[in-house]
Amino acid sequence: MNSQTDKKTFTLTDNSSGKQIELPVMEGTVGPRVIDVRRLYAETGCFTFDPGYTSTGSCESRITYIDGEEGVLLYRGYPIQELATNCDYPEVCYLLLYGDLPTQKQQSKFEHDITYHTMLHEQLNTFYRGFRRDSHPMAIMCGVVGALSAFYHDSLDISDPRHRMVASYRMIAKIPTIAAQAYKYSIGQPFVYPRNDLKYSENFLYMMFANPAEDYKANPILARAMDRILILHADHEQNASTSTVRLAGSSGANPFACIAAGIASLWGPAHGGANEAVLNMLEEIGDVGNVSKFIKMAKDKDDPFRLMGFGHRVYKNFDPRARVMQETCHEVLDELGINDEPLLDLAMGLEKIALEDEYFVEKRLYPNVDFYSGIIFKALGIPASMFTVLFAVARTVGWIAQWNEMIEDPSQRIGRPRQLYTGENKRIFKELKDRK
Ligand code: CMC
Repeated sequence: MNSQTDKKTFTLTDNSSGKQIELPVMEGTVGPRVIDVRRLYAETGCFTFDPGYTSTGSCESRITYIDGEEGVLLYRGYPIQELATNCDYPEVCYLLLYGDLPTQKQQSKFEHDITYHTMLHEQLNTFYRGFRRDSHPMAIMCGVVGALSAFYHDSLDISDPRHRMVASYRMIAKIPTIAAQAYKYSIGQPFVYPRNDLKYSENFLYMMFANPAEDYKANPILARAMDRILILHADHEQNASTSTVRLAGSSGANPFACIAAGIASLWGPAHGGANEAVLNMLEEIGDVGNVSKFIKMAKDKDDPFRLMGFGHRVYKNFDPRARVMQETCHEVLDELGINDEPLLDLAMGLEKIALEDEYFVEKRLYPNVDFYSGIIFKALGIPASMFTVLFAVARTVGWIAQWNEMIEDPSQRIGRPRQLYTGENKRIFKELKDRK
């Protein structure tokens, strides 16, 4: 890690004692400067208070950069739009994992190695049967991914770089198989084994939609759309699920357990669950004529309703992923000949009104990536309960790259936030018989 601590410092004054301390200011390659508060408690006896970590940098990272004001997203320095247009998903996985785009030779070896790990341990297939048929596929994902550590004992030593790489390849390779099987299980169809002659996204679609009675050949435009969706969701710096993976991993937990923790965090509707929530919301709105009623509800402080697919913690401008997703959405609908999709009309109506509405403009609430992804998934024939699962498949490489980076960082320590305690002070204990 080579962020610089320059000569600049930040001076903090305690107004009650008049004491001053100088805190170092760190600078990254781009982005806001960071005040290094690591000595704060030792020197002042104070902690910082930052619920939701809106002003806290939790780590140094070289993987992903976001400029939320300008709507910029870079993976290892490359703009997301260029990667989504020119690369396939395994190429982007390589980039995130290793820091540079692969040469042709590196790319074919990487794809081969990933393909080589796509099958699951046969006994893991029986593990699914422990779940109820109507389980949410994300519940199955949390369980099965967590269970990988019970099946792949030879890649659990996190101090061994080879173990870490084998676990990383296994995760990237097996996650589409695990996801497709979660889907097949929930619809009562037999599992479809991966095919090593297919590309990553084609294979994923094949495992989801083929069945023993009928062959399935992925439409190249739809496979390309899937690839693009995977690229757009592959990493997003220190969001809730990635921070969860890092926090879980900071204690030395094995990578499979850490990714399972990330999946659990992703499930929430404020994070990865939003794409499913967008579709549910569009179905609830039902008709363009009802949009203004729902916009009114979203603006009402006393109403918990929020417009799903709008707003972002970091982007205060158009989410650059949403632009690519919007284009992809039209490509998919054109390819499938869907030109009277009522949900799309509704989504476009909602987008237009929200972009012009004073409340959304003032609070800088733009459509985010989830706003369009749900419509694409629906057009591809993927049920809403699988939307967040697809997000998890895509994000696995980001989690694993961030986890590797953390383990390799010599300054890494177990994550341990502090708190502002507002409970009872020390009290006198009364035995049960004396309590009134
Ligand atoms: N609809 C209506 N009002 C909103 C919305 C929305 N979607 N999002 C934020 N606001 C309002 C919020 O009520 C608050 O108003 P006020 O200042 O008057 O109290 C203000 O905007 C700031 O909101 P916040 O909750 O403080 O912002 P946050 O950074 O904590 O939350 C968010 C970000 C994404 C959780 C939030 O915008 C949201 O709930 N959006 C809907 C869910 C969604 O689409 N999530 C997907 C995020 S993108 C995928 C990913 O990266 O995981």
